[in-house]
Formats: sequence, C-alpha cells, structure tokens
Amino acid sequence: MAGSFETVGVVGLGTMGAGIAECFARAGIAVIGVEAGPEALTRGRGHLEDSTGRAVAKGRLSEAERSEILGRVTLTVSLEDLADADLVIEAVPEVMDFKRALFTDLDRICKPSAVLATNTSSLSVTEIAATTGRPGRVIGMHFFNPAPVMRLVEVIHTLITDDGLAGEVADLARRLGKTPVTVGDRAGFVVNRLLLPYLNHAAVLLENGVATRDGIDTAMRLGAGLPMGPFALLDLIGLDTSYEVLSVLFRESHDRRHAAAPILRERVAAGLLGRKSGGGFHRASEPVAPTADEPSACLVAVLGEGGDAFAARLSAAGLKSVPVEDAEVVVALSSVPVVELAPGLPHPERLVGLHLVGDQVAEVASTALTGPEVARAAEGLVRLVGLVPVPCRDRAEFVVDALLYPYLNDAVRMYDSGYATRDDIDTAMRLGCGYQTGPFEKLDELGLETVRDGLRALYAEYREPFLAPAPLLEQLVAAGVRSFRDLP
Ligand code: 3HC
Repeated sequence: MAGSFETVGVVGLGTMGAGIAECFARAGIAVIGVEAGPEALTRGRGHLEDSTGRAVAKGRLSEAERSEILGRVTLTVSLEDLADADLVIEAVPEVMDFKRALFTDLDRICKPSAVLATNTSSLSVTEIAATTGRPGRVIGMHFFNPAPVMRLVEVIHTLITDDGLAGEVADLARRLGKTPVTVGDRAGFVVNRLLLPYLNHAAVLLENGVATRDGIDTAMRLGAGLPMGPFALLDLIGLDTSYEVLSVLFRESHDRRHAAAPILRERVAAGLLGRKSGGGFHRASEPVAPTADEPSACLVAVLGEGGDAFAARLSAAGLKSVPVEDAEVVVALSSVPVVELAPGLPHPERLVGLHLVGDQVAEVASTALTGPEVARAAEGLVRLVGLVPVPCRDRAEFVVDALLYPYLNDAVRMYDSGYATRDDIDTAMRLGCGYQTGPFEKLDELGLETVRDGLRALYAEYREPFLAPAPLLEQLVAAGVRSFRDLP
C-alpha cells in the first residue's frame, strides 16, 4: 500500500547508517540492516548497542525499551534479504560508482513498489535514480549527524519522482519525530550547501593565520552561539565527507568558496578524518590545552565606540585607565580593523583592536605592528573583565563576522534563486545543525544594513566575488527594508 512503510532496509551501518536504523527502530518500524561483511556488521551492531546503551545510562530509555528497539533490527550481510522491504535507504560511502552499483542491485532485488532512498550528502539523486528501472520511486532522504539527535530530514525529489512520493516520505520522517524539509535536487541541498562553505571558510582563516583552531572554535561557539565550533564539527562530520561534499559543490559552481582549503585536503590525504579515525583537526589523544594565563593588569588606555563602557568594566575590576601617552596597552574598541589608528599613536606597537562579540567573547586583534607581549597583556585585560579572549589578526570583520556574514549571504542567494523558502532554510539550519536561529532570523537580528556593510568590507579586503553582498540584500537595504519579515 502506498505510504505504508512497515519494513525498512538500511544499507551501510557506519555512524550515519546505524543512527538512521536506530531512528526507524525507535519509531516501531522493523529494520533490516545490511553490511558488506561480518566485521562491518559487528561494528554496525556495536554502534547501535553503544548509542542505545548511552540512552539507558542517561535514563532516557529503559532496558526493556532498549531491548525492544534492538529486537526490531535484523542484521544481515545479504542484500537479497531486502526483497520484501517497503523502503530501503542507503548510507554507503559518497562515491557515485558505489551508489550506482548498489541501486542497480536494489532495483533487481526489491519488490517493484519499494521506495529506494539515498542518504547522500550531496551527490545527484537524479543520477542515482536514472540507474534504476524505477526512477519515479527513488528519492533522497538526508539525515544529519548524530541521526538519533538532529531533528531534520531533507527530502529530495527529482524532476522524475512520482507525484505524491515526496509527501509520503515526508510523513514517514514525521513518524520518526523529525521535521522534513522538501526540496529539489541541487548539490548539497539546503544544509550542506550553506554549512560546508562556512566550514571551509573557517579552514581558510586558519590556514591564513587569522586565528587559531581553538580560537575559531571558541569564537563560533561562545561568540556566535553555535553548538560546536567549525573544527569540532568537521571532525564530527568527517573530513573526508566534508571534502567530498565541497568537491561536488565545486564541480557544480566552480566558485572558490567551494574549493576545499588545502589544509583540509592535506588532512584527508594523511588519514586524519575526524572522530572516526581518532583525530582530524582535533586529535583524540591530544593533551588538554594548558589553562589560560591569570588575568593580568597593566596601564591601559581605551579608545573607540563603546570604549567608555569597557573602561568602566575595567574600573569595576579594579583597573583605572590612563591617557594614551602613558599606556602600555592601547585598546581600540572596534568592529573594523584598527591599524589606521596606529600612525597617530606615540607607540603604534602598543595598539590592539578589541571586538566584543555577544556577551562572552572579545576578539583581540593584533595589527602588523602590535608587539606579542602587548597582545598577551590585552588578552589578560579581557579575562579580567570576565570575557574569553580570541586572539586574531587585524583583518576585515575579524573572526565571527568574517565567517557569519558570507554564510548569511549564501542563504540570501539561495532564497533569491527560488530553491527554497526562507522558512524552510531557517528550519533546515536550526534543526539540521542545532542553531538557535536560522539565517533569515539571524539577518533580522543583526540588521540587514550591518550585514551588507560587513560584506562590503570583506569584499573590499579580499576581492572574492562570493563576498560581495547578494543583489537582493543590496536592494532591500537600498529600499529601506529592515527585516525579511516585512517581505511578502
Ligand atoms: N549518537 C546518539 N546520541 C547522541 C550522540 C550520538 N553520536 N551524540 C550526542 N547524543 C545525544 C546525547 O546522548 C544527548 O541526549 P540526551 O539529551 O537524551 O541525554 C544529546 O545528544 C545531547 O548530547 P550531549 O549533552 O552529550 O552533547 P551536546 O549538548 O554538546 O550536544 C550535539 C551534542 C547534539 C552533537 C550538539 O553539539 C550539536 O547539535 N552539534 C551540531 C551537530 C551538527 O551540526 N550536525 C549536522 C552536521 S551536517 C550533516 O550531518 C550532514 C552530512 O551530510 C554531512
């Protein structure tokens, strides 16, 4: 019967496949999990047992419920066991040749009414569908890592998907307690098309020495309020998967934004793939970072917009500011590079920029002239007022805004292209990546003009076409529109 998915096959029981199998089993659906050989099958069983075991340990699941869930999953090394499945979803490595071969087999083995779904991160669902004799019954069903936790499922239909099938699969996603967002077949769909260029951009900033790995992770977690920093997230997703997604995006766009940073390619080549290989950007065996220096006091002068408020915070912490000529450190509060102030100072090497981001982080920007001891002293001042310092170079939009604004720009371009609605894009980013707000909500919160100006500054500095404000953003600001909510 159309839409009744009572037995589901999952092919590939790596982290994602096992997580997907768990989602179905938790929803009371019988699952047949298939792996290539006995060893991989044992690993897949291990993923399922560990994940549900953790849930029991946390009191989220009783032992009896866990047994029921595991009891719904049959494990096999034979694809032939999928003959009666109502839907089969594959989560095998992102190699088109593997997918094609698998879908050819599934098409032969599965009953004609069965739906064949792919959890591909970015490959063309249309191309996969075309390898089968039932292209209308092939669809994308894209889960997010960790699958049992993230609430989004992207449902990808192609030009040749049977009418109504996307709706049935979206209903199935709801049955799993997920929220579906249904879109057409474009490289990266919604989330990966917005997320991966941002992660890649973080790698470019690291490679260019704008800030350190931990600085960037901290800035995005505490400053931008994201659940994980970009390097921790790259390690979770897998550097190889991330590299593959970027390669697919690049093949479609030929946009430098999608050209994987060499630092990413290098790690993939070295087998540093992330959590699954014991380390990527972060290493499992890495010693814990040494604790930060004690907050330190010094003679400080404070300049710039918001400088009085910062001086008052220092004063409350017991440190009175002094005139510029007496200062060991000159702190210029600024959201733009501060180096232009340097020539007017008696000691240009004592200047640092300070950009407060949210209420927990301050980016501490060193110019080409700033002395390292001055930068360290400024970090100490930041700690003195209870903020976390993120040392960085004095570059346009520093760290958080340099990463956030191009991502928001990409979201505006995506909406303007007609690929997805603003609501769908916001929902996808909130539920797929655990963000507190989607990009359009974020644009409204920050102000369209602020983001437009930040993008102009980034473009002026780097001259990369992708940093130029999206035409729609320029138009809205020119028309005096303050919020995307004001649009029809
Ligand atoms: N498997 C199962 N459950 C897990 C898990 C895992 N691997 N990791 C965490 N959880 C569960 C925990 O058990 C806990 O559940 P509980 O509340 O019922 O006890 C819950 O998730 C929260 O976990 P923690 O408290 O340990 O950790 P955090 O609060 O730090 O949250 C996180 C962890 C959910 C991973 C959070 O950091 C997050 O949302 N990160 C963003 C992840 C993200 O962006 N994913 C999308 C990546 S893109 C993608 O997958 C697409 C692909 O195509 C590339």
